[in-house]
Amino acid sequence: DHCYTADFRDTMIAVAHEAGRMILAANPADIPSGTKLNAVDIVTEADQAVEKMVAGKLSAAFPSVAFMGEETYKPGMKLGPEPTFVVDPIDGTTNFIHGFPNACISLGLAIDRTPSVGVIYNPWQDLLFTAVKGQGAFMTRGRDTAPRRLPLAATSRPLTSLGEALVAVEWGSVRDGPNFDVKVETFRRLGASKETGGAMVQSMRSLGSAALNIAAVAAGELDLYWEGGCWAWDVCAGWCILHEAGGRMVSGNPGDWEPEVDGRVYLAVRGAPAGQKEIVEEFWNLMGD
Ligand code: IPD
Repeated sequence: DHCYTADFRDTMIAVAHEAGRMILAANPADIPSGTKLNAVDIVTEADQAVEKMVAGKLSAAFPSVAFMGEETYKPGMKLGPEPTFVVDPIDGTTNFIHGFPNACISLGLAIDRTPSVGVIYNPWQDLLFTAVKGQGAFMTRGRDTAPRRLPLAATSRPLTSLGEALVAVEWGSVRDGPNFDVKVETFRRLGASKETGGAMVQSMRSLGSAALNIAAVAAGELDLYWEGGCWAWDVCAGWCILHEAGGRMVSGNPGDWEPEVDGRVYLAVRGAPAGQKEIVEEFWNLMGD
């Protein structure tokens, strides 16, 4: 029910702001870090400290809601139908450790395995994205400005073709095997000229955070975002925000949110008065088998 989800949203925003203060106060040079699956899958003590704070505050406010977080996830954990917070404490850890000022906290709430509340906060830009299922998506830049409804009016134009699209992609952490080959081939086909079998998109971007890529698609600042290896906590909050902004997440669906399934492919498409279905078809045709 609406009041209920708005309560979640308001608490999640407060927790996101607190996480933002922790992230900004942390000097990555002084923070011990380690690796997970391989040398480019990085976790820092800041990720762990933020997740601990977030889990503590959310479970104090909503004791009956389950919690799934990137840093406390254990293989075999499943996202069930019960209300569950799905959290990435620092999405964009690689940016964070390099001091590249673009990362966020991504707080999602899934109910019945459907993303129902999303809060994404980039503390460097004081940039907040929020959505509650059925109530629209909003972006607030700076604490004193009014929230703006997404997609932003300036970008509410039809989607035409891949050749006119600005597309986000990410390398992610998988750097070998079939998943890596798919990524490299996808980047080639998106970028290459038509004569060499490509779509020649206008350009590609990597914001370094899955959640911020999805949020930028929701805002209409990017047309598409493709990634071949996301996890539930990378996409849950963004999924709700994107859908509420008229966008679509295709090829993954909430029923497939088993985080241990590696290489989950996600394509996010912005809201548009026309051309959404066609550009998705053009994308999958380009990818072929
Ligand atoms: C990662 C970032 C990265 C994306 C990876 C994610 P993390 O999250 O969003 O941009 O390519 O797939 O796992 O490790 O920084 O929380």
